[in-house]
Amino acid sequence: MKIAILPGDGIGPEIVTEAANVLDALRREGLPIETETAPIGGAGHDAAKHPLPPATLALARSADAVLLGAVGGPAYDTLPRELRPEQGILGIRKALGLFANLRPALLYPELASASTLKPDVVAGLDLMIVRELTGDIYFGEPRGRRRNAQGEDEGFDTMRYSATEIERIARVGFETARTRGRKLCSVDKANVLDTSILWREVVARIAHEYPDVALSHMYVDNAAMQLVRNPKQFDVIVTGNLFGDILSDEASMLAGSIGMLPSASLDANRKGLYEPIHGSAPDIAGQDKANPLATILSVAMMFRYTFARAGVAARIESAVQAVLRDGKRTADIAGAGERPIGTRAMGAAVIAALQHHRGSMVR
Ligand code: IPM
Ligand code: MG
Repeated sequence: MKIAILPGDGIGPEIVTEAANVLDALRREGLPIETETAPIGGAGHDAAKHPLPPATLALARSADAVLLGAVGGPAYDTLPRELRPEQGILGIRKALGLFANLRPALLYPELASASTLKPDVVAGLDLMIVRELTGDIYFGEPRGRRRNAQGEDEGFDTMRYSATEIERIARVGFETARTRGRKLCSVDKANVLDTSILWREVVARIAHEYPDVALSHMYVDNAAMQLVRNPKQFDVIVTGNLFGDILSDEASMLAGSIGMLPSASLDANRKGLYEPIHGSAPDIAGQDKANPLATILSVAMMFRYTFARAGVAARIESAVQAVLRDGKRTADIAGAGERPIGTRAMGAAVIAALQHHRGSMVR
């Protein structure tokens, strides 16, 4: 189990430290875990003048799985686009072919009051967003800046999907739905965009291979509204890169805090990159305030998807739940009258809970 650890910027190093402590605890129990750390994002730029240094990419390629913190910070905001920290993440997703991004939004019952939505709207929420991650307007060419015919500055990007790209992410959507509630909602903007008209056609075609999964289609604006109106109508959502980026941030609030949501980005062979869906939060970096749970839950996803050790994954998730049940809260999930604990204390609490269940569930 060779794991490349890329802490990144802002709160990245703090939250990744807590997740790495979980890996260390599992190694001490005998799991054959090897880790190596490398810089990415702003840290990559500092170390090697590039957000994705060649040595970092080489390490990620040679690893079975990658654990990433977060990238970005004000110091890098004025760099040209191709050197910005975000290019580190986008570059590694593209280079490793990580086209399938799984973003679960699960509400731990203990956090029902942390959501800004009414508890009865979110109680029991368990949905999965399957976001295509290596295509769409994020990578489409041509793109750039130019002077238009009127002599005015203009920026342009290209939304683009090939049928093959849509097919493979649709299959991940259907397969994922099969392991859950067998309901798949494909989200697009087929009333306006040609890319989406093709998307809808292809998804409908692939649906014939999955007669046991109920497929529906929804326009993205309606989906954004339905997510806050009645999120429990969804089981699995499959959508493109841009819509998935936006809807997954929205869905995170249903789960109480963006600090709770892990993600897996998988290639065709289940090699994966695992990261919290939140950003680098430069405003609280270095202050021991960040919630490490999304990163720790990303480690759980790593065991579930890349290492096929569902028992280990479940054990990490149970440890997180035990800590929440015990009333431990970082500032982002603390309710009125609850005294928040720091990043390190939260990480330590998870390890303690993990060790409490030691042996009982390692499979
Ligand atoms: C995400 C982030 C990234 C994205 C950024 C950091 C490039 O928002 O993982 O959702 O837009 O995909
Ligand atoms: Mg995002």
